[in-house]
Amino acid sequence: MTRVRIEELGDAVEAAYEIARTCQAYDQPDVPFSTLDDFRAFLTTGWPGYGHERYLGFLDGAPVGRMNLAIAQDDNLDTVMIEMSVLPEARRHGVGRALFDLAAERTRALGRRHLIGGSVQRHPDGGAFATAMGAKPGLEELRSRLDVRTADDALLGRLHADALAHSGGYRLVRWTGVPPDEIIDDVAYLDGRLNADAPVGDLSIEPEKVDAERVRQSELARIARGRMSYNTGALRGDRLVAWTAIAVEPAAPRQAWQNITLVDPDHRGHRLGLLVKIENLRYVRAEQPGLEVIDTFNAAANEHMLRINRAMGFREVETVVQWQRTLA
Ligand SMILES: CC(C)(COP(=O)(O)OP(=O)(O)OC[C@H]1O[C@@H](n2cnc3c(N)ncnc32)[C@H](O)[C@@H]1OP(=O)(O)O)[C@@H](O)C(=O)NCCC(=O)NCCS
Repeated sequence: MTRVRIEELGDAVEAAYEIARTCQAYDQPDVPFSTLDDFRAFLTTGWPGYGHERYLGFLDGAPVGRMNLAIAQDDNLDTVMIEMSVLPEARRHGVGRALFDLAAERTRALGRRHLIGGSVQRHPDGGAFATAMGAKPGLEELRSRLDVRTADDALLGRLHADALAHSGGYRLVRWTGVPPDEIIDDVAYLDGRLNADAPVGDLSIEPEKVDAERVRQSELARIARGRMSYNTGALRGDRLVAWTAIAVEPAAPRQAWQNITLVDPDHRGHRLGLLVKIENLRYVRAEQPGLEVIDTFNAAANEHMLRINRAMGFREVETVVQWQRTLA
């Protein structure tokens, strides 16, 4: 009898949650894992613009592995994003391979060619599975962390004053959740630029087609998951030309994610990236006094963003490799 079996996730949300939580504690122990409610809410809402398929892997009848396939609907029509994990004690018994084989089968059935997924390089064998699956490293990313408790406020104050001095003629704006109507189209424009402006290495990834409705739905999905986004932007006249966002899960208030920061190409060179980031940091610290650390991902090749982050006090903690398997 074969020991490995794969099933669609169906109602077995708690089993998937336990696997995801245990694997995160093993592979990224310093990042708090979401609550069961948050995990469940994500399964119901997903991300706007994506279809999702979810599977469980069994070894000798027990659920030990999980996989999420995210299938972009409006852009990136050749690609499937894969996220999977197998309980540490159940690894090397073929569950990962069976999940991956199914992912490849589904990718072909959907008429797509590329499978993209990341692995944390914490343990020395971090990339062994992806390599065995025939994937190639496409992009190296760094996770950096700012310890808010020990942030150098005098330094941040100097950087802020300097950035203000270089950015005359721009006005700052703050918001949480869905952007105000006057700027939501500009947020969509900046968001859609991300895959064009930030390095994507050798990954077959194209810019996302983002419009105001997708921005609105993404923020509503975040709120449905019990999360909150804090945003700061810079306006030139009425136009939003720079934007940064930090996402917080109030159920796990000690940690937050620094997400997108983007300055429109016509407005670079005025320290707007640094300015909106420091302003947004002040915003989130004032609103979330229990916050201790902020994590962020950047392409290792993204020198401009990394320089700003290092100046603010972010320190690199680990490498994540994004792998791509292109099917024949
Ligand atoms: C990656 C992961 C899902 C693999 O699950 P798994 O059930 O152990 O995978 P398999 O047993 O099917 O391994 C298939 C092949 O990959 C290679 N492999 C997997 N883990 C390996 C390791 N630690 N060292 C060397 N080779 C390894 C081997 O060639 C293995 O075949 P073999 O055991 O016959 O030699 C699991 O290690 C995991 O959850 N890691 C953390 C999350 C992650 O990195 N996900 C992957 C990217 S989305």
